Amino acid sequence: MSASTVTPKPLHVAIIMDGNGRWAERRGVPRALGHREGVQALRRTIKAAPELGVKCLTVFGFSTENWSRPADEVSDLMGLIRAFIGGDLKKLDKAGVRVRVLGRRAGVPADILKLIDHAEATTAGNDKFLLQVAFNYGGRSDLVDAAQALVDRAAREGTFEVDEDTFGDQLSTAGSPPVDLIIRTSGEQRLSNFLLWDCAYAELVFQPVLWPDYGPEALQAAIEEFSRRERRFGGREVLEAPVSPSAERVVI
Ligand code: FPP
Repeated sequence: MSASTVTPKPLHVAIIMDGNGRWAERRGVPRALGHREGVQALRRTIKAAPELGVKCLTVFGFSTENWSRPADEVSDLMGLIRAFIGGDLKKLDKAGVRVRVLGRRAGVPADILKLIDHAEATTAGNDKFLLQVAFNYGGRSDLVDAAQALVDRAAREGTFEVDEDTFGDQLSTAGSPPVDLIIRTSGEQRLSNFLLWDCAYAELVFQPVLWPDYGPEALQAAIEEFSRRERRFGGREVLEAPVSPSAERVVI
């Protein structure tokens, strides 16, 4: 495909929602309030994303490393995740959103696991938009779990061949399209162990805005920045998307 025929819109956007703490600090209010406003920003962003042509949004809700925060902050974040996955489900389902929660199930409180299972089962047939919430997620642990699953399968079935599709199918993102655009707010410029496999060819956009202030305008600005990038996926021609053997495996 030549550059002139390219319509560069990101199908899959992933966001590292950073800066809740600093937002709260700057206002002299508890961090919990920053996280609470962060959920509001998430709601605004979920609404705006499909209007901007995005089909899949993946957000970093809670990392495997976030357990090391003080107990009261972990408890605040758990409460917000409970409220979001439980409380917003009806609205998301009605809007045709399929909800998936990425990450390790081990170590997640039982009541949250129940909410996750319910949300995933309720929305499994939706195909307008895919929302993936990374929760108790780490890119490296997801890769390790995938490798372990393949080792277990080899021991069980004697199948020793691995390719990109069979490996990708074992990740918690299995079936979601590759990430086109990854956004990190708050000005920090790191991936922080997020979606290491899926971001292989993602465009990185770092925005100074603190996450609780995020919304449709900021998302649109990130998408416009993405549209100005030329993606070659290791080749010489500008392409809209990678020529990937996984293209027919995507769930949405
Ligand atoms: C980073 O802010 C944000 C997080 C720890 C995760 C994002 C969490 C939310 C938006 C709320 C709950 C999530 C869901 C999915 C309902 P920070 O505390 O690291 O900010 P700082 O770097 O300014 O301290």
